[in-house]
Amino acid sequence: MRHGEPPAPQTLDPVERVSREELAALQLERLQWTLHHAYQNVPFYRAKFDAIGIHPNDCKELGDLALFPFTTKQDLRDNYPFGMFAVPREEVARVHASSGTTGKPTVVGYTRRDIEIWSDVMARSIRAAGGRPGQIVHVAYGYGLFTGGLGAHYGAERLGCTVVPVSGGMTPRQIQLITDFRPEVIMVTPSYMLALLDEFEAQGLDPRASSLQVGVFGAEPWTEEMRREIEERFDLHAVDIYGLSEVMGPGVAQECVETKDGLHVWEDHFYPETVDPFTGAQAESGELVFTSLTKEALPIIRYRTRDLTRLLPGTARPAFRRMEKVTGRTDDMIILRGVNVFPTQIEEIVLRTPGLSPHFQLHLTRPERLDVMTVRVEARPGAVDRDTAAAALARAVKDTVGVSVEVEVVDPETLERSVGKLKRVIDRRE
Ligand code: DLL
Repeated sequence: MRHGEPPAPQTLDPVERVSREELAALQLERLQWTLHHAYQNVPFYRAKFDAIGIHPNDCKELGDLALFPFTTKQDLRDNYPFGMFAVPREEVARVHASSGTTGKPTVVGYTRRDIEIWSDVMARSIRAAGGRPGQIVHVAYGYGLFTGGLGAHYGAERLGCTVVPVSGGMTPRQIQLITDFRPEVIMVTPSYMLALLDEFEAQGLDPRASSLQVGVFGAEPWTEEMRREIEERFDLHAVDIYGLSEVMGPGVAQECVETKDGLHVWEDHFYPETVDPFTGAQAESGELVFTSLTKEALPIIRYRTRDLTRLLPGTARPAFRRMEKVTGRTDDMIILRGVNVFPTQIEEIVLRTPGLSPHFQLHLTRPERLDVMTVRVEARPGAVDRDTAAAALARAVKDTVGVSVEVEVVDPETLERSVGKLKRVIDRRE
């Protein structure tokens, strides 16, 4: 299946075919169970509910969830390491953790049943992305405490695929394994996929001639322009996968290959809301908030993801709402001389500018009293008029985002590559 061709037909899970009403009934039953489970077994939740005089019995319909308090990353840190677990430690089959930028890691836990469900929703995700039983899946998400590698691995096994657990790094060897094993599916961050692309070319191989048909890309924001770049240069379908460790890991929401129009949230297990990031009031678009519906080890109530998006009605899976591609986090937003800028806005423009490659970094400095953002971007290989490209980029950023930036066009292969999640912004302001 090349990019542009439809995937082979698939058999959906029965729940993927339910009506919105049936799904809502299932959600309510599961939500009530979750609230009771959290209240009875996690002192943190009991104290928080009691403090505002709310009880799980007060949840009579789905809308009542808004009466319950939010949970934040800080709450997980304050209860480090195992204080948020709702089952005895002996029933926790696995832990994962995310390092975060400061302080202690956030620890999450799973019972055996949680891992079964995670595997099921990941299998469902890979299938929605266009993967099929019997195919070979190359997993280049990092293995370890990060949920990406093992999450993808269990899902691909559950779907009935042959899994190649490569993890991230050792880029030349990745290319060798792709060339020799001929996987149909690759699971990797979009930024590391770009590094693989360069390595294919460095080895004199044509990426479009590779066996890859589907890429399941997530763990960091990426744009439609990036999708186009990867799809054309690899001749494959590039599909978005979303998730976060606090809610489970990858597989909370998945884009369907046949529509590529945002990510269907697997709402039979994860209940989404969007709220105003400042007031916390429910809003049409804003910060995504999740409540787990079936998790045993770590039930999570109204978790503030900090990811910004909008919820839309289902398409390829009509009962399941979609979330728009996440193009920013509240904490990724750069405020440059009063203008809000997300790195993905710059990505879109870089990829539309002739002569510029998708490899760029944003450097923030404060030479005098005002903040300066410098876009350091690699030229595409070959003859490039760098001054023209730099001027075009600066002009397009000014016209679309409304802010002046400095641009430095550097040699190909000079910026650091990521092997996992990319760090786009280098902040050197005092
Ligand atoms: O990144 C889980 C994951 C692994 C998702 C592999 C997809 C693929 P965390 O390390 O806890 O978990 O980071 C979660 O990453 O809140 C988003 O800010 C960001 N993120 C994840 N997927 C996407 C995506 C994994 N598709 C945080 N688009 C989330 C944009 C994403 N951002």
